[in-house]
Amino acid sequence: MLDRIEHRLAQSLRAQPHWTAFAQRLSVHGPRLVRELSHLYGDRPDFEQVVENLLRVAYEGWSERPADLQALDAQREQSPDWFASNQMLGGVCYADLWAGGFKGVQEQIPYLKNELGLTYLHLMPPYRCPQPHNDGGYAVSSYRETDPALGSMDQLRQLFTALRQAGISPVLDFVFNHTSDEHEWAQKAAAGDAEHCGYYWIFPDRTEPDVYEQTVREIFPDEHPGAFTQLPDGRWIWTTFHTYQWDLNYSNPAVFTAMAREMLFIANLGVDFLRMDAVAFVWKRPGTPCENLPEAHHLLRAYNALCRIGAPSLLFKSEAIVHPDDVAGYISPEECQVSYNPLQMALLWNSLATREVNLLQHALEHRHALPAHTAWVNYVRSHDDIGWTFADEDAVHFGIDGFAHRQFLNKFFVNRFPGSFARGEPFQDNPATGDCRISGTAASLCGVEQGDVHGIARLLLLYGMVLASGGIPLIYLGDEVATLNDHGWHQDAHKATDSRWLHRPPRDAARYAQRHDPSTPAGRMFGGLTHLVGLRRHLTVLAGGALTPFWTQNPAVLGFQRGQGAGAVLVLANFSEQVQAVDAAVLAALPAQMVDLVGGGGFELRTGLALQPYQQLWLQRP
Ligand code: GLC
Ligand code: GLC
Repeated sequence: MLDRIEHRLAQSLRAQPHWTAFAQRLSVHGPRLVRELSHLYGDRPDFEQVVENLLRVAYEGWSERPADLQALDAQREQSPDWFASNQMLGGVCYADLWAGGFKGVQEQIPYLKNELGLTYLHLMPPYRCPQPHNDGGYAVSSYRETDPALGSMDQLRQLFTALRQAGISPVLDFVFNHTSDEHEWAQKAAAGDAEHCGYYWIFPDRTEPDVYEQTVREIFPDEHPGAFTQLPDGRWIWTTFHTYQWDLNYSNPAVFTAMAREMLFIANLGVDFLRMDAVAFVWKRPGTPCENLPEAHHLLRAYNALCRIGAPSLLFKSEAIVHPDDVAGYISPEECQVSYNPLQMALLWNSLATREVNLLQHALEHRHALPAHTAWVNYVRSHDDIGWTFADEDAVHFGIDGFAHRQFLNKFFVNRFPGSFARGEPFQDNPATGDCRISGTAASLCGVEQGDVHGIARLLLLYGMVLASGGIPLIYLGDEVATLNDHGWHQDAHKATDSRWLHRPPRDAARYAQRHDPSTPAGRMFGGLTHLVGLRRHLTVLAGGALTPFWTQNPAVLGFQRGQGAGAVLVLANFSEQVQAVDAAVLAALPAQMVDLVGGGGFELRTGLALQPYQQLWLQRP
């Protein structure tokens, strides 16, 4: 079949300048593309036509790809591990909130590059979206237009060019599970246009929605129960998230192809990583949770193969905030090369609350290793809530009951637990299921907001673990100066129904101004973090993701080693406000003398070690 299609494509495209390189990649990656697609659409009589249409879209994308990106494609094909470097460091921000728009972000490039050392910048979705409700940009009305409040498409291109020149990879979302209800496809569907009705999951009545709702979970129960929304004409439409975010129907190959076109358009803006939003939800089947279905993986793998042909250097970052086994299922060179590490994120917070590292240490031992040519994106906070996505079966291992423990964590982080230092708020508190997640900035959750003496040390500890444990560390911009919660979100009618705005504050200019003043919390955080970043940049053993867990035998002290031999670094981290000892016997296999790169001091290991409250040691042979 592929031969026939290639023959037909060659007839019309052979004379074109971009054909040869395209045909070459098609012969390498085409078979995989067809195989993956056949799991989705192989039973259709028009399957061959589906594949051909898609390859025409891929060619269109490739032929429109700017020459500098095509050169980069060739270069990156030779070095598929380029992102595993210990120089790699990510940041994420809302262009408007953090810098007033694209131009403002561009003006911040010297800061990002020289002061923070970023090599990766994720701009929250900058696309045209409904006003005022758009889920922070995750309701996209056009993938080819920008939100005018942020700037024009030209300004976005200029920003990306400038970022690339500064050695910073632009990262954008591909919000492909849904469009906004103002997308032209949605508007046509709303008006009854049959072709576009087929782009979404629209039902004449409640019959099918009732069946699906027996098995799907509620994501935003505060806003609407279940997964469906009634349209003004009485029909029901699938809306996993907000009512104005309409789930796309990928069982229709026209949707797959149309979205491929949008994806390649975004790729050609000069994006290095596409954050694949809400990957778990993209395929639905009655009688299932409609999350993490095998077809979701085939779909991603098909897009991955398509990119190898049409936009070869583009990489996918998976956003799956689900059970750790399911998170891992999305990660491979053929699917998503990088992925958020929501387990590590949640367990860092868990360790702060419990002063015990058991679950985190277990995760490092059993859930950290990844296939070759892939990486975790490790992070402390994102723009989203914190969900307690650890595996109950891991918790049981330590005598912890998952349900009860999540209740404790929720109370702890919203300050309803005596003695808690955290100042968060509940997100999507669902009394019916007992489910709840947490909002709050990293600094406020660490105790900085309530003036706890250990607040900054906690925040530095979490960032230290993210920087040392491998993969691509990601800084939520603002955290580097310990930005606090924005309690004003309640007052803003556009935000008041979504507590995640608590931790999406506008840039705190005063804190940035204090960043070089060590007498301020902002200055201590900034100084401490940039110190750790600087250390990491020179430690090649911190490249890649391989890690050896080191059980310290002290329940409050996490341990892991990066690298082997003389340059190896042993990381020890005290997650409590007490001094913690690590016994000489535990350290017996290590050299007698080691140097702590963080504090600069030498340590004699034969007498054991004492870690100060929230201290982290990055120990190396002298
Ligand atoms: C992702 C985003 C989140 C958004 C949701 C719907 O999970 O991170 O902010 O609400 O997708 O697009
Ligand atoms: C759910 C989803 C996740 C999304 C989040 C938004 O947890 O699983 O994809 O980021 O909701 O709050």
